[in-house]
This record gives sequence, C-alpha cells and structure tokens, in this order.
Amino acid sequence: MEVKIAPTGATLGALVTGIDLAELDDATWATVRSAFLEYGVLIFPGQDLSDQEQIDFGGRFGDIEHLVPNMDSVPISNQKADGSVVEVGEHHALVLRGNESWHTDSSYMPLASKASVVSAHVIPPEGGQTEWADMRAAYDELDDATRERVADLSAYHSLYFSQAKIGHDVEPGTGYGFHHEEPPLRPLVKIHPETGRKALFIGRHAYGIPGLDEAESETLLADLTAFACQAPRTYMHDWEPGDIVIWDNRCVLHRARPYDYSAARVMRHTRIAGDPKAEMALDTTLKSNPGNVG
Ligand SMILES: [Fe+2]
Repeated sequence: MEVKIAPTGATLGALVTGIDLAELDDATWATVRSAFLEYGVLIFPGQDLSDQEQIDFGGRFGDIEHLVPNMDSVPISNQKADGSVVEVGEHHALVLRGNESWHTDSSYMPLASKASVVSAHVIPPEGGQTEWADMRAAYDELDDATRERVADLSAYHSLYFSQAKIGHDVEPGTGYGFHHEEPPLRPLVKIHPETGRKALFIGRHAYGIPGLDEAESETLLADLTAFACQAPRTYMHDWEPGDIVIWDNRCVLHRARPYDYSAARVMRHTRIAGDPKAEMALDTTLKSNPGNVG
C-alpha cells in the first residue's frame, strides 16, 4: 500500500488513504506524524478501527486526557444508552449545541489539549459535519496593527462562560470542564511547541482579556474569530461511518455543524493531553510565559 496524502485545498487539512492505522509501521507513523504537524487536520476515510485501535493510534501522539475517569475514549453522541436521543434543553444537548461554535478542546482546563481523535459510527441524514479553521494561517494574515495589538494580550477560558452564552448555566462539578478552579489565562498568540509557528489561540471559551473592558474584549475576540474562520482557512468534512480524524488543538479551531437531534449521531472521541511545558495555563504570578516555551 502506498500512502497518499491529498491536501484539501484549504490552508489546513489533508485526506490520507493507502494506510491501515491499525497496522502502522515506524516509517508510516513518521509520515503521519509529520503530515499532522504540516496540515493540522488529517482525515482517514474508512478505517473502521475498534475502540482499542483508536486509543492505540491516539496514544502515539501523547498521553490520553481523561474526560471520564479511567476511560481512554468517550462517546460524543446524542443517543442515550437505551437508544433514545437527548431532548432539547437537556444538559447534554446543550453541551452538544455549545460545540457547534468554534472552539479548541480543553482550553478551559488548566492543561489544554494537544490533539483530538474522533471516529464516526452513526451519521444523521443531514448536517452533523465537523469543520476546522486554521489559526496559523489566520495569524499570518492579520494586518500589522492587529498583530501588534494581540501580541501581548491574553484571555481567560471557561466552559461556564461559553455555555452561559447559549443559556446553559451549569453548577460546578456537573461534568468535565465544569471545575472548581480559577479559569485559566492563555496568550492570544500561541507558539506551536513542535513547529514554532504562531497561531491565534481563541474560540468560544475565551473571554475577559485583561486590560480591555468587557465590551472591547468581546468585540476583539468576535472580530478575530470572524476573520480567522473563513475561506481559505476552513475545511468541512462530511462524515461516513468508519472515518477517523485527528486534529491539532494547538493551532486549529473546530465546530460541529448543526443537525436535527431527533436523528442519532454517534462519534467516538479520544483526547490527547497537552504537554505541560507548552499547554499549561499562564501563571499570572510570573512575568514570563510558560505557555510559550518552544
Ligand atoms: Fe470539541
């Protein structure tokens, strides 16, 4: 089998075929790893991996982040154990709806995520795609004044904040991300620890830029997101069952596209933990920025 890497035509993303992720040899793994760093999103159609094979693939990229204790992969699904689907307004439905806005995974945790692996199992007849946006290309395309403006700014990241925006008020301790700790503070410009490229680090969890008033902060973050998340920096994938995707949360935003929740959508997710040297939140007691150690 010859590995074929077909760029999407956007500034990020490639479709990878001619590969069996369950049987990766060292040379093929090296190819995948370097393509991941180059394209930010790799789509592998028709892999049909078992849960353990998905976990093993994800584990090549780093330690697994546990969204549920002791579970290396978790469902992203609107379907309950009894086969029924979530109801509008339910906690879980609101978390899924929240993920239809641009975000990067776990930016609201003290240690942000490195990468996310998602596989498709049941796909609704319409909608339910995933879309990604390239924050490296977005940073590169900023005008000089904006680049200078964001250079030294940071934002807090909170899942309480982003869910409240869609009317979802959540008690601490209700689920992953609804923690009791202070919201992490993260620079708006992140230096990728493996490639050295700069990227905007924004998304729906970001708010409250120190030094700006609330309205200025919201306007800046909204303007940056609107600018960043447009062609040619976005790519959307129409899932087929068996597809698996990995993306780099350090330089890519993503969102689920809406679909009718009366139809089931069942995905499986493995999240890769960030490197504490690079993805730990800014320590506000330090002048240096541990989040930007190359
Ligand atoms: Fe996500």
